[in-house]
Amino acid sequence: MDQTNSDTCCVIIGASSYIAQAVIRHMVEVQSVEKIFAITRSTRESLFLDNRVEYITSDYTEASIASVIEYLAGASYRISKIMIFNGVLHDDVSFPEKSLADVTATNLSHLISINTITPFIWISNLSSLIKAKQECHIVVLSARIGSIQDNRLGGWYAYRASKAALNMLLKTASIEFYRKNKFVKLVAFHPGTTDTPLSKPFQKNVPKEKLFTPDFVATRLLKVLSELPFDGELAYVDWDGKFIEW
Ligand SMILES: NC(=O)c1ccc[n+]([C@@H]2O[C@H](COP(=O)([O-])OP(=O)(O)OC[C@H]3O[C@@H](n4cnc5c(N)ncnc54)[C@H](OP(=O)(O)O)[C@@H]3O)[C@@H](O)[C@H]2O)c1
Repeated sequence: MDQTNSDTCCVIIGASSYIAQAVIRHMVEVQSVEKIFAITRSTRESLFLDNRVEYITSDYTEASIASVIEYLAGASYRISKIMIFNGVLHDDVSFPEKSLADVTATNLSHLISINTITPFIWISNLSSLIKAKQECHIVVLSARIGSIQDNRLGGWYAYRASKAALNMLLKTASIEFYRKNKFVKLVAFHPGTTDTPLSKPFQKNVPKEKLFTPDFVATRLLKVLSELPFDGELAYVDWDGKFIEW
């Protein structure tokens, strides 16, 4: 392996996510990571702070992504992990559809833009910074609800479709990565129902033991990651390390 630059870094996109914040804290406090670039739209004050974590504000426009990429290229760390957390289930524009009659073009394009296009455009841009023959995990927060085979309840059209489309893009990228660089591992991760703003309106019927804390999910994510082989396959995997049907 090429070891010309021994300083490794992790790049976190959507860093204000509650799960992302727990992952960042865990990597700093438990794993002693050297450097984290944490990219977010958020300017909220309660973000986890440490001198190894550098927050970069981005509005995720192409121009903004290009300027972040240029900055990261100049920083010349070896990227060992890219983790992308962006995902919306409800916000002021959209709420999960209960029936076909609730489906709107606005809802569909809004969620596909945030949940599918934004994460994947980051991967497309960051790929130029991944050094050949050096191990790099690319983890994107997907969801079991994006599984076509697992869809037994229906509803939530836009969210389901956005995560299923994300999975297909990741699968396609995994094939290209494997041809070019066998040391890249792509992971579509399902955290389980986790106590964050995203799941807040839907927690009522979730049994207490099935509602995870962001800290628990962070430790599971990093453990699962450490056990996955660099085999060129996209792993669609849950918090317990179990593979999810497509
Ligand atoms: N919580 C759960 O039960 C659960 C279950 C299955 C899957 N997931 C997935 O886990 C991931 C993290 O979610 P979370 O539970 O930690 O939720 P969260 O705390 O509400 O975080 C929301 C995430 O979405 C991003 N985001 C929000 N609005 C956006 C917009 N308009 N454009 C681009 N990005 C936007 C935020 O990025 P900024 O930092 O840039 O604001 C942040 O990364 C999501 O992909 C979600 O689908 C969560």
